[in-house]
Amino acid sequence: MTARTSAAAIYSGTGDEVEIDRIEVAAPRRGEVLVRMRASGICGSDRHVLDGEWNVPSPTVMGHEGAGIVEELGEGVTGLAVGDHVALVWNQACGGCVNCQSGTPWACTDLRSNECVMPDGTTRLSRSGEDVFPYLAVGSMSEYAVVPASAAIRMPEELPFDIAALIGCSVNTGIGAVLNNARVTSGESAVVVGCGGVGLSILMGLRLAGAHPIIAVDRNPGKLELALRAGATHALLADDATADEIQRITGGGADVAFEAIGNSRTIPELPSHVRVGGRAVLVGMPPEGSMIPFDVLDLCYRGITIIASNYGGSVPARDFPRYAALYLAGRLPLDLLISNRIPLEEANGAFAAMRAGAEARSVVLF
Ligand code: APR
Ligand code: ZN
Repeated sequence: MTARTSAAAIYSGTGDEVEIDRIEVAAPRRGEVLVRMRASGICGSDRHVLDGEWNVPSPTVMGHEGAGIVEELGEGVTGLAVGDHVALVWNQACGGCVNCQSGTPWACTDLRSNECVMPDGTTRLSRSGEDVFPYLAVGSMSEYAVVPASAAIRMPEELPFDIAALIGCSVNTGIGAVLNNARVTSGESAVVVGCGGVGLSILMGLRLAGAHPIIAVDRNPGKLELALRAGATHALLADDATADEIQRITGGGADVAFEAIGNSRTIPELPSHVRVGGRAVLVGMPPEGSMIPFDVLDLCYRGITIIASNYGGSVPARDFPRYAALYLAGRLPLDLLISNRIPLEEANGAFAAMRAGAEARSVVLF
């Protein structure tokens, strides 16, 4: 098959904006699929890159939270057909290493997708003959993407594409942190600091798990309103009294607390929100190279477990279909994660809105 040209949101490696330009997308190679993108969420991780907090090879097609329709199969692909609706995986596990074989593909030891290349170290994207790199080997802010077939998870046709896209990152990251990493059980008390797409997904996961009370913290009042709809029983505006309020509501600290911002001030405070023997779950990711201090003596004395979560400790082929089914059954109010549905041309406005923090997710529709 011939290459496609595709409109894409490209980050040049400098400045804090994307440029909308056309790229060439080569045909899928063996074991890969070409996907006609239909939706791409704009995530905090894309913003980290634009704000110079994380380094990636450039130029980069941004976006890693996407869904679309399989348009072409590379050689040897089984289990997917042209026309299948799929949500894309950005942690593209090899399937063969000891961690993949042990059921923890998020800890794949042969991962290449974090380098923004295909498993063989190359890219299918180019512009005027120059390599262009798909962010996290997805590059979903583009009309077309090529991914390994194992990174395209079939979704029910009745699932809207914007919801499928969010399942590919924020939902899987947030709910997975609750169910897979923290293994929250019914009746446990919980705190969530930061109520963006990831934090709101954590809140929904906590409600599914039967946690109570569920305390949401954000500096933005609009987010707290969403938090209550997502499952929080208490919503606290972040200020000097937050820590005391959490102690009061939980009677001495929650069983489990989640940080979903990646902020160097809120991360070290997290253990203080949990009880003796409680767990503090790090979900938000700080700028590259951040060294964040903890009061280690306090952690030891109080027997606090720190859990570092990546991609919700998920098994995407198992978890994505579960979240889709729960949404379709009315048990996950994922629509509230989406504030704006926008064309690709408005991507920079969506990043500005994310920095302002007033709204939930923007999703690009193609
Ligand atoms: N105190 C309380 N809330 C804060 C603070 C603070 N100091 N700073 C930011 N927030 C809130 C914002 O108001 C917003 O609601 O944190 C939320 C962050 O949400 P988003 O910017 O939408 O980010 P999101 O996509 O949810 O990702 C969060 O998780 O996976 C990681 O890379 C991702 O580090 C990012 C984090
Ligand atoms: Zn993401």
